[in-house]
Amino acid sequence: MSGWRPGDRRPDRASMLRVNQAGEYGATRIYAGQMAVLRGNSSASKLIARMAGQEQRHLDRFNQLMAERRVRPTALQPVWNVAGFAVGAATALMSEEAAMACTDAVETEIDRHYSAQLKELGDDDPELAADIAAFRIEELEHRDTAREAGAAQAVGYPILTAAVRAACRVAIGMSKRI
Ligand SMILES: [Fe+2]
Ligand SMILES: [Fe+2]
Repeated sequence: MSGWRPGDRRPDRASMLRVNQAGEYGATRIYAGQMAVLRGNSSASKLIARMAGQEQRHLDRFNQLMAERRVRPTALQPVWNVAGFAVGAATALMSEEAAMACTDAVETEIDRHYSAQLKELGDDDPELAADIAAFRIEELEHRDTAREAGAAQAVGYPILTAAVRAACRVAIGMSKRI
């Protein structure tokens, strides 16, 4: 079994909630940026609208848990507001495939992040773990949706996804602490 044992450092669940809420917030901002650029009736924008609705549900749930547990949100929220929207708008301006490559990259990192959290939590916080596990499945569906919609056909796919993944890792690391 993974999870906490006597002598281990307890998982910092406030930090986990903080970074997860920041990530889900960032996801809603990325999709808002993409939808601001793409025509509302394109097939890509319909896919994005559906995924954005799920991100909003994830965000609402983490907001609720943070309120219940009196966890402060990241101080970087205003940064993720602007940066998320900018990344979404920029990728959508490149192409619909680039917008999908962005989701492909983001969800690849979120899967890693949520998987690591679930391992760290073990049996420590079943309520939080259940939400993370459920959301992780939906993030993987988003990744697969993006791949099926042609993410890999985006011009510069390897560079674009590497850049977005690096940005996600930086954002995750910062939101844990700040
Ligand atoms: Fe999400
Ligand atoms: Fe997602």
